[in-house]
Amino acid sequence: MESMGELKRSHTCNDLRADHIDQEITLMGWVLRRRDHGGVIFIDLRDRWGISQIVFNPEFNSEAHAKAHALRSEWVIAVRGKVTPRPAGMVNKNLKTGEIEVMISELRILNASLTPPFPLDEDIEVSENLRLQYRYLDLRRPGMADNLIMRHKACQALRTFLNDENFLEIETPVLTRSTPEGARDYLVPSRVNAGKFYALPQSPQLFKQLLMVAGMDRYYQIVKCFRDEDLRADRQPEFTQVDMELSFIVEEDIYRIAEGVMTSLFAATKGLALQTPFPRMTYADAMERYGCDKPDTRFGLELINLTEVVKGCGFQVFRTVVEKGGQVKSINAKGCATFSRKDLDDLTGYVGNFGAKGLAWVKVKEDGEWQSPIAKFFTEAERAAMATTLDAQPGDLLFFVADNAVVVRSALAELRLELARRLKLIDKNTFNFLWVTDFPLLEYDHEQKRHTAVHHPFTAPVEEDMDLLETEPGKVRSRAYDLVLNGTEIGGGSLRIHQKTVQDRVFNALGIAPEEAADKFAFLLKALELGAPPHGGIAFGLDRLMMIIAGRDTIRDVIAFPKTQKATCPLTDAPAGVARKQLTELHLRPDWQ
Ligand code: AMO
Ligand code: AMP
Repeated sequence: MESMGELKRSHTCNDLRADHIDQEITLMGWVLRRRDHGGVIFIDLRDRWGISQIVFNPEFNSEAHAKAHALRSEWVIAVRGKVTPRPAGMVNKNLKTGEIEVMISELRILNASLTPPFPLDEDIEVSENLRLQYRYLDLRRPGMADNLIMRHKACQALRTFLNDENFLEIETPVLTRSTPEGARDYLVPSRVNAGKFYALPQSPQLFKQLLMVAGMDRYYQIVKCFRDEDLRADRQPEFTQVDMELSFIVEEDIYRIAEGVMTSLFAATKGLALQTPFPRMTYADAMERYGCDKPDTRFGLELINLTEVVKGCGFQVFRTVVEKGGQVKSINAKGCATFSRKDLDDLTGYVGNFGAKGLAWVKVKEDGEWQSPIAKFFTEAERAAMATTLDAQPGDLLFFVADNAVVVRSALAELRLELARRLKLIDKNTFNFLWVTDFPLLEYDHEQKRHTAVHHPFTAPVEEDMDLLETEPGKVRSRAYDLVLNGTEIGGGSLRIHQKTVQDRVFNALGIAPEEAADKFAFLLKALELGAPPHGGIAFGLDRLMMIIAGRDTIRDVIAFPKTQKATCPLTDAPAGVARKQLTELHLRPDWQ
């Protein structure tokens, strides 16, 4: 192996154009491909920026040519040479450097490489475990590198925007106490304080509120958060939030800032000008029309409520569900009467996964007649009333689910998405933002037999609903909002409680006894009594946002070193066992050793 010696890189592998012809240049990078053509060796040299074709011609320099025979994929080299035009007919229009090539006069081999465990061409399918085990090779693949570059640009853009809006970037602790956001904590045992544990923050929520009490007025941070929860394509145990908090503001101020962040971010990454203000929808509307609080509004297929229409109808399943206080809702899949029996069976099985006991369907024939196993149970008048509510036209396929409200909405929300996928209604190049507002403050948890916070326990109730806190807590609306993009929740926030008396009442409604509140949150409660200004904020999930911007299906593709679905890292083999001595120092006596 050789050293770079006095060679200095003069250009990246994406810089050279026709203007450089006849210049002496030096490139450094990795051998992507090698081709031998009649004694001449062509190499595609790659770095983070792109690819340049370099040429070893024995007639130009026989020493370099002789050495080039040894080169293999992923070897690291430095080359000096002269930029020349590609011969007529050999120009590669797909490559920024496609007009030129570099005739090499000096080659230095800086490092050899074993044969990589998978080819680094982007379009080759490789198992994700192998990709994660050799993540540093995976990240050499152009698409993966682009994702990280795009993420960097996004962070730069949002920092510039927020700095111009007078925000301060402030760091908050990682070793801290539990900040509840609804997941399990990652705990870190203390060596110095036997039997005590730090919790890694699920979010910087309490610290950012304390920064408002401290008079910082506008804070942001691009910050790691830790949540020990079941993983999915859009969830990681450690993930990044763009977290912010502002003082003396109301919801409209936050919407404006958040829309500004998104606008600057999309301009920087996609060159797209977003339309603002973003549309808004109340939580109640979203649940009624889409069956979920993060509707994908890129397509229709809305849920239609038939509960009133089928009340007392001849179909026993519908009638009894309504009598028991349940719901009957429907989706009209326009023009889908051509679906086969197998399609319908598949979809019935699919909604079964979400609790539906059946999926009734009706195909509307050309003459308006119903083809359906349930048609016979309805009178003509009942069918006509349903058809009117559903705007049923010949060729339509109507789906119905009858059950309690929770099952109906989850089954139909999932059916809606599945239909959109099957009918290819989802356009990956459309970006539909939506504010979801007026969330309830609390929801009843049947397992724990108490109310829990829908957002988190520090969210302010709507003032006019405050009197319901003690009488009908489930009816209290909150001042919380989510930002949804294409059916993914990319951000959430709220105005906060800034008065201790209100925080006490909300803890009480949550069934958190004063002693427990004092034990866990004394520091917050004290701060609320020492001049806390009105404040509120929001946090965006940066990984989810980048996943959507990069058009990927998992957030792992926009994170340099992500964890697997089992929260492991195949590269470092984390989590790993530790020596007994370390455990003893931490005052832990495990029963597994
Ligand atoms: P919330 O819990 O809604 O709010 O989190 C904010 C955003 O973070 C993203 N997110 C995740 N991304 C990847 N993996 C995860 N496990 C994960 N969990 C959440 C989501 C989500 O919208 N402190 C509040 C914010 C506030 O009130 O200001 C909070 O953490 O995109
Ligand atoms: P059955 O009378 O049980 O054979 O049901 C007749 C049709 O109604 C079948 O297509 C079932 O899939 C459908 N069905 C049964 N229960 C429900 C329900 N709870 N919601 C919607 N459709 C149902």
